[in-house]
Amino acid sequence: KQDLIIAIDGHSSTGKSSLSKIIAKKLGYTHIDSGAMYRAVTLFALNNGLIENQKVKVDQLVARLPEIQISFKLNSLTNKNETFLNGQNVEAQIRDLKVSSMVSPIAVIAEVREYCVALQQKMGKAKRIVMDGRDIGTTVYPNADIKFFITASAEIRAKRRFLEYQQEGKVIPLDEVLANVIERDHIDSSREHSPLRKAHDAIEVDNSNLNLEETVEHVMQILQKRF
Ligand code: C5P
Repeated sequence: KQDLIIAIDGHSSTGKSSLSKIIAKKLGYTHIDSGAMYRAVTLFALNNGLIENQKVKVDQLVARLPEIQISFKLNSLTNKNETFLNGQNVEAQIRDLKVSSMVSPIAVIAEVREYCVALQQKMGKAKRIVMDGRDIGTTVYPNADIKFFITASAEIRAKRRFLEYQQEGKVIPLDEVLANVIERDHIDSSREHSPLRKAHDAIEVDNSNLNLEETVEHVMQILQKRF
């Protein structure tokens, strides 16, 4: 197989990360979850009193960005690249609703984006990567070899997230999950810096009526046809 950079962008809860992880495994590539970086920065802000009453203390957070070290380590049991914040495994914590509901306002901050994008570009130097996010095909790797844009209806995405929470033993009302999905879509699509949008050369995949396995198959077929 050739050395490619595969960009997978799209809305939240479309299964982008799971899809990217499986595709990477099939191709023998490295999967990089760019959203995990924004989540780790959010966790740092929450743990350091940089968010008060849902408001981010932007200047203070920006001043402390150099203190934030984010790295990934492959867990060979789960085949998942786990996220480390300043040496501590935070993979579970960054998936918490507390982090999910504050990550979009953190991700609008220009300096936070610069910091995360620089790290993403550095990690992609080796090629053979599948990176998922919101602006990989538009900003991080505008020259990616192939770009996908994954979407599905908000209701279906909320239902998926709801079931995930339920499996983790978290009981969060469906309408609250749906509100969070819609709110994040709105903030992500309307922000000034690298808003969430489909790159002009991205292939759109609406998986409202496809499960994960079917989405993987669909994307693999496109990859096989192309390369
Ligand atoms: O992909 P995930 O849902 O984990 O990303 C969490 C949040 O991080 C998104 O809702 C978005 O606000 C932000 N994000 C971003 N740019 C990326 C990846 C994620 O702004 N490339």
